[in-house]
Amino acid sequence: HPDNPNVVGFESDSSHSDTSNSENELDNEIEPNKVEIEIEEKETACEELNNDITVVPEPKQKPIEIKEDESKKVSLPRKPAVYVDVIRSKEIQIARLKLPILAEEQQIMEVINENSIIVLAGETGSGKTTQVPQFLYEAGYALKHQIAVTEPRRVAAISMSQRVAKEMNLSTKEVSYLIRFEGNVTDDTKIKFMTDGVLLKEIQTDFLLSKYSVVILDEAHERSVYTDILIGLLSRIVPLRNKKGNPLKLVIMSATLRLEDFTQNLRLFKAPPPVIKVETRQFPVTIHFNKRTNENYLKEAFNKIVKINTQLPEGGVLVFVTGQQEVISLVRKLRKAFPLRHKKNILKKNKDLIHKKDENEEDSNDEGIERGLKKALTSKKKIKIIPEINLDDYSIPGDSGIASDEDLSDIEDDETDVTTITNAQPLWTLPLYSLLPSFKQQKVFEDPPPGCRLCVVSTNVAETSLTIPNIKYVVDTGKTKVKLYDKVTGVTSYVVNWTSKASANQRAGRAGRLGPGHCYRLYSSAVFNDEFQDYSIPEIRQKPVDDLYLQMKCMNIDKIVNFPFPTAPDLMQLKSAQTRLETLGALNNKGQVTALGRAISKFPVLPRYGKMLALSHQQDLLPYTICMIAALSVQEVLLEVPIGQISLEERKETRQRWFSTRLQWAGRGNSLLLGDNMVLLRAVGAAEYAHSEGKLEVFCSENGLRHKAITEIRKLRIQLTGEIKKNVPDASVVVDPKLKPPEDLQAKLLRQILLAGMGDQVAKKIQPDEVKEGEDKAKFKYAYTANNMEEPVFLHQGSVLKKTLPEYVVYQEIYETNRMYMRGVTAVEPEWLATYVPGLCNLSEPMMSPEPRYNPNTGKVHCTVSGTFGSQAWPLPNIEIA
Ligand code: CDP
Ligand code: MG
Repeated sequence: HPDNPNVVGFESDSSHSDTSNSENELDNEIEPNKVEIEIEEKETACEELNNDITVVPEPKQKPIEIKEDESKKVSLPRKPAVYVDVIRSKEIQIARLKLPILAEEQQIMEVINENSIIVLAGETGSGKTTQVPQFLYEAGYALKHQIAVTEPRRVAAISMSQRVAKEMNLSTKEVSYLIRFEGNVTDDTKIKFMTDGVLLKEIQTDFLLSKYSVVILDEAHERSVYTDILIGLLSRIVPLRNKKGNPLKLVIMSATLRLEDFTQNLRLFKAPPPVIKVETRQFPVTIHFNKRTNENYLKEAFNKIVKINTQLPEGGVLVFVTGQQEVISLVRKLRKAFPLRHKKNILKKNKDLIHKKDENEEDSNDEGIERGLKKALTSKKKIKIIPEINLDDYSIPGDSGIASDEDLSDIEDDETDVTTITNAQPLWTLPLYSLLPSFKQQKVFEDPPPGCRLCVVSTNVAETSLTIPNIKYVVDTGKTKVKLYDKVTGVTSYVVNWTSKASANQRAGRAGRLGPGHCYRLYSSAVFNDEFQDYSIPEIRQKPVDDLYLQMKCMNIDKIVNFPFPTAPDLMQLKSAQTRLETLGALNNKGQVTALGRAISKFPVLPRYGKMLALSHQQDLLPYTICMIAALSVQEVLLEVPIGQISLEERKETRQRWFSTRLQWAGRGNSLLLGDNMVLLRAVGAAEYAHSEGKLEVFCSENGLRHKAITEIRKLRIQLTGEIKKNVPDASVVVDPKLKPPEDLQAKLLRQILLAGMGDQVAKKIQPDEVKEGEDKAKFKYAYTANNMEEPVFLHQGSVLKKTLPEYVVYQEIYETNRMYMRGVTAVEPEWLATYVPGLCNLSEPMMSPEPRYNPNTGKVHCTVSGTFGSQAWPLPNIEIA
């Protein structure tokens, strides 16, 4: 296709130009230390914190636990000193009085008044999030200062602020929220709900958080990285505020899960904070395990709900699946199976059908309806007739929209085999997930229409963040979607995994709020016992620490190894993170964060890729670098010819054909030197073109691309672009799926960018003295800097760079099969090393010949130096430096 430069066999004009000629016009090089991203250079004194972080081993003390019966003994006649009136509606007042936490108000306030730091634990739905801010407000905590409440999820921050405003009869000017780049906070704000990340940012500009009288860290059991770091920071800020005579209270709110991480951690709190447990009435829940574990848990869930709705007594159903797409697809199926239609409606539709058989009815399920109807007519059971309902509210949001970037799993709808079951109660099926608009979320708190059974299909937001009333049956798939951080790129992806025992039990507990309930686990007890972990691992243990380390350095926290993490990351990892950050130039040799480091920290990937993105942003190359990072974090994009089935001849032929396509993709000149990264860029662009024509699968199999890898890359590109837009507002980058191949100059800049980010992964060709017969491979032998190893690495036969065998290369990764091979290889010029990887260069004194020259324009002296690179002291060519 002549219009599309990505299509195989077409070469853009620029790639025809000869390398040596074009080299002259290409001296537009990147200045690695001049990053033109706006940087807030705010220095806040947190020396006090750094001096303060010391480990004091103290005898273990039991936390003070105040249980229900004990509290009855203590009389609490004292009223808080100041009391602010709140006028609530009667309806709200009645609803509040049902919450168990209301009975504990005096006791909670008493403990807060007398202690700086307290832990408040209570089952989900006991009223922590909505009521504690109100208690504090009424006790006068918002008179001079604000009350801060942090949530790990953005949606919770918004919806909880709205709920509390409504309960208190206050405007959203007074009970407000603030999430990144969005909020309704005013000067009159009294209670401020925010994401944990936002509060962390505020600490950077106001270390003592002086505008708050209380900080409530909500959902601490979720163990989000930001909440964890906030706990560590606040454990030091609170005593500092006390010392300054302007006390700050810290309330850590959590479900009753693993509280000892907070209370028994002597590094965190020298004296364990008091724990208040809000007791809730919990009815027994009978757990039913499946005998066998069926892989298709969505189908299994569907069947279970059909059984519940057709055979079991009244009572709401709550189903746990893993993500937004699964929720929507299951809701759709259930609505088809148990429609809210009037009996008469079904009848009428059926008659129409019989008369106009030929007309194209859009409802593909009419046959199902017909069958269901026949069954219903012969069945003795009565169909309940439900009153008219406004079905507008019942629509599924995002029905036709794209999945959010949080949820990227491919779920195929298989509604075709759903039969409408008419001899059962209509099912009021509602979706629930964190990105659902809050007015739709609110639906789950309302009663279903009369005659209908409530069925909520939810992600794990219903596990602890939201409580749905009137649930008697829980259907638990046992699955959860977990964020995985690619160890190489730090790019996140999502995989479906077994949840933990603790959260499975939380899920089951949702069935026992009203009365005795049942929990159907769609997996066997053996799987539960053997494969489920006790608790979910805190996020901090799953994330690469380079990123975290830099973020904390940006907050001026010096001694990160001494930081009081609730769960500390690995010590060795912290140390090597520091080294890598120094090599990158994100930290100087005193361990302080540099301007470049601050720019890097804005990008949501590992710092080395952050640096590449920061530099690309400066050169207007973001779409390319985003695409490379996405492609590099997906395994096996370019396939090797599979063994088996085809003959040796055919294999050889296919291999040659694929390789020549890749060579074409790699282009000529600087494009070719961009090596396998260029192949990836072009392959993705060409595949996207084929995709837009609906020929992706054929295209992939013809050209040796893994189909799933291409769709994965697309998702990552969209996700990464979105994240960058969120974090770097001046980056005007859009995803153009059919990326144009870079021009020669751009290709050269991209090589420099790759070197700047991966300068610690350079390899140098080993010149074999003589290539022995049959030892063809020796040609591809390289030595590498990374860890001083004697063992050589190899350029893979499949790499396009085997045509040029450049002297120096950077690689993305080393992998081992029968030998050690480099992956993601790009050619670099040795003269670039001193400029882009200064941290690993050892430069000589200025030479006297040619003589140093003073440049009056720059005010600098230019001179020539020689030097060596890396731990193996590879000699560098003489270069001019300023
Ligand atoms: O934080 P915790 O899980 O302890 O409870 P909460 O979120 O404060 O919820 C207390 C009650 O308020 C629950 O019974 C919810 O059903 C109800 N609620 C509501 O009706 N509407 C909301 N937007 C939020 C909560
Ligand atoms: Mg809550």
